[in-house]
Amino acid sequence: MKNRSLVSISDYSANEIRQILDLAADFEDNPNQRLLTGSVIASLFFEPSTRTRLSFESAINRLGGRVIGFSEASSSSVSKGETLKDTILTVSNYSDLIVMRHPLEGSAKYASEVSPVPVVNAGDGAHQHPTQTLLDLYSIQKTQGTLENLNICMIGDLKYGRTVHSLLMAMSHFNPVFNFIAPDELKMPDEYKLFLDNKGIKYYEHTDMDDNLNYADITYMTRVQRERFADPVEYEKVKNVFILRNEMLNETKDNMRILHPLPRVNEINIDVDPNPKAYYFTQALNGVYTRMAIIAKILGVK
Ligand code: CP
Repeated sequence: MKNRSLVSISDYSANEIRQILDLAADFEDNPNQRLLTGSVIASLFFEPSTRTRLSFESAINRLGGRVIGFSEASSSSVSKGETLKDTILTVSNYSDLIVMRHPLEGSAKYASEVSPVPVVNAGDGAHQHPTQTLLDLYSIQKTQGTLENLNICMIGDLKYGRTVHSLLMAMSHFNPVFNFIAPDELKMPDEYKLFLDNKGIKYYEHTDMDDNLNYADITYMTRVQRERFADPVEYEKVKNVFILRNEMLNETKDNMRILHPLPRVNEINIDVDPNPKAYYFTQALNGVYTRMAIIAKILGVK
């Protein structure tokens, strides 16, 4: 992992994923370790973010490093027409690692190819969000005691939701069964189903929730990604198609936990929040420890 970019979750083997999760647990036990004194990390967010950007910044601060960057493209010279390549080449002069979120699929891979310093993909369009996946895996392991043989129910926008794409690929190392619940317009794309077919992983597709929640170990809710729709009318048709309510959890398994990458809009009713099965805010906290581990591994300080 040392000095390697993280563009897709497929960049990491099962063994490397386990190393990250073990190190994240170490940081959770002891979150203030000044391993990055003298290091500068660039945080380039061309798209809005609360959790990813701030948990990365929190992770860097806890490790004793310094952060430079911007939280919107309009405050950078991209707004004057500067290319992504020129931006990356410039910022790499100022930093040891670049964390980047960008609306274009493939932008992280491109940035990693032109950058002399490692690049961490903090989300590229509807493609991948590998650091979210590592914190999701950490959350799954913490709540289930294992990553193996779990029933994972993914609900909502499985077409544009990059977090489900990355999570599906990562979980394929651990023999899961998936239930995909989405309206026809937002079904899991064929390329990811083909990926599962090639690995012999079972999945089932549904257009309503029925009793599928009752078999799940993990219920992974997602927001309908308004910003990816070309036609606002199409968004209006599907925006509230699945709403999880507390009463729907009565028959679910005791160990079942609800994850959501957040932000949520309407897809989890607030009456779910006090239920002990609601794990999404702790999941967001886990992002700090997991991102500490990712940075420490890439910069070779652990
Ligand atoms: N989960 C996630 O990526 O959240 P933000 O968009 O707030 O970073």
